[in-house]
Amino acid sequence: MNKAIEIFEGERVSNYDKFVIDYFPSYSFVMQNCAVLISEYLNTKLKPKILVVGCGTGNEVKQLLDYNGDWMIDACDPSEEMINKAKSKLSNYANLNLAHSGVEELDKSNLYDAATLFLVLHFISDDGAKLDLLREIGSRLEVGAKFLLFDICGTKNEIEENFDILRQLFPKKWCSEEIELRRERMLKTLNTIDENRTLELLELAGFVKPVKWHQSFLVRSWILTKA
Ligand SMILES: C[S@@+](CC[C@H](N)C(=O)[O-])C[C@H]1O[C@@H](n2cnc3c(N)ncnc32)[C@H](O)[C@@H]1O
Repeated sequence: MNKAIEIFEGERVSNYDKFVIDYFPSYSFVMQNCAVLISEYLNTKLKPKILVVGCGTGNEVKQLLDYNGDWMIDACDPSEEMINKAKSKLSNYANLNLAHSGVEELDKSNLYDAATLFLVLHFISDDGAKLDLLREIGSRLEVGAKFLLFDICGTKNEIEENFDILRQLFPKKWCSEEIELRRERMLKTLNTIDENRTLELLELAGFVKPVKWHQSFLVRSWILTKA
């Protein structure tokens, strides 16, 4: 298995849209506000083009196109089942290409005015692969383009403390064994990094002016500019 790709299939795909809002209570807030945060910049462009990396079942794509149906979106995801779900969810939308691929397979001559990377980076190991992914995105952006990053973030201690508060909000039907497994995975398996390391990688990949616009429990969101 490619260590830089986290495979989503089966129940993980069919349950995703419900699971993600149960696990990350502010997921809907981030989704609902991502479009407006880049709209002022995109409104200065004639035909704004947005790259959505790791689009999963298409939730951020839907929010962007619901906000402005004239924006042109290229979205990609390496999981066939996730992208198929996105295709059926977004079958009535125009100005949209959905590709079953990683960002590195996309044509490098297409340059975008904005990009998103939501809930992907924590799967990727910090042995050069995270930086490679950020650089692949950066190399497809115009100078001045906006980049929205949303991910699990924190020191191990911050993540542990936040998990142990957040667990009180989990659905009552989640049994304690399931919660323990999630806690174990969060602390030991996922490739989470803290805020300093995140900002360091973003700078190395050519992103500047980071503004953290959201933080809640396990997750944080930034808007950055491509230098
Ligand atoms: C937790 S889902 C997030 C989906 C969507 N962005 C959202 O916020 O709802 C993570 C997605 O990242 C995709 N993924 C895994 N490895 C990836 C990689 N190296 N590059 C891009 N996407 C990747 C998975 O297939 C999956 O669809």
